[in-house]
Amino acid sequence: MKHLMNPLDLSVEELNRLLDLANDIEANPSRYSHSCEGKKLATLFYEPSTRTRLSFEAAMLNLGGSVLGFSSADSSSAAKGESVSDTIRIISCYADICAMRHPKEGAPLVASMKSSIPVINAGDGGHQHPTQTLTDLLTIRSLKGRLGDFTIGLCGDLKFGRTVHSLIQALVRYPNIHFVLISPEELRLPDNIRDEVLIKNNQDFREVVRLEDALPDLDLLYMTRVQKERFFNEEDYIRMKDFYILDKEKMKLAKEDMLVLHPLPRVNEISTEVDDDPRAVYFKQAQYGVYVRMALILTLLEVEVC
Ligand code: NCD
Repeated sequence: MKHLMNPLDLSVEELNRLLDLANDIEANPSRYSHSCEGKKLATLFYEPSTRTRLSFEAAMLNLGGSVLGFSSADSSSAAKGESVSDTIRIISCYADICAMRHPKEGAPLVASMKSSIPVINAGDGGHQHPTQTLTDLLTIRSLKGRLGDFTIGLCGDLKFGRTVHSLIQALVRYPNIHFVLISPEELRLPDNIRDEVLIKNNQDFREVVRLEDALPDLDLLYMTRVQKERFFNEEDYIRMKDFYILDKEKMKLAKEDMLVLHPLPRVNEISTEVDDDPRAVYFKQAQYGVYVRMALILTLLEVEVC
């Protein structure tokens, strides 16, 4: 049985098949509307979420399946002290597949070891967020027409932003990608990712502080919010939170066909005046998140659609 903890759990070939399936779902949704009849997805969310949890639920409902779960640790037996390992053993009796978000890095991995159903990591602390990466890859491939041969700027909280960590890991497997890491000194990409992922793979990258310096070169700009919940003190957060604000003026520096992505939720880092710019694709990205999670559920449950 397969789990998804990390984007590298899927080979490039498996990933391509999954993205093809997601595109087919987008083109022919009715073909898939009964594929998971009688199956249940459990969403175990120990940390806040809107998009990830609801897009998983929408994905399963679109496939004709059902959903159950909880949306905060307080409303589960975690509040009584139950371990993740015990919870997953129980959930394995109730559902066919589960998506888990947890503030502790590695909690979904621990769960997967005791689980008799596929476990999907829906975000673990500041570590990984593989289904957001699938969403990002589908968005890039569908709207740019390729995975590879581009310069991508990753901007904001590169230290705590798990979506960035997972996306970098996934992208280094494609050819001719140049990374521009745009962050304040305090929120630079962690050393282990710089060394173990970028440098080890001989990946071309540069680090800059000013967004304006990077913008003219970019084919893709991936904006992120400063991860308030992972800061140790409020003062540091307040100092960092409005470090980057992408607005209409700055968009003038960008290429005509540069795409702006954001995993959302947005706070102040993209001004709402940018939303109408055709290059702003973050709301489309959220829609792709449903197709790709449908494809993932079908793949992990090994459902054949004829
Ligand atoms: C991201 C996350 O949870 O890491 N949100 C999401 O799933 N789309 C990004 C974030 O919270 O900033």
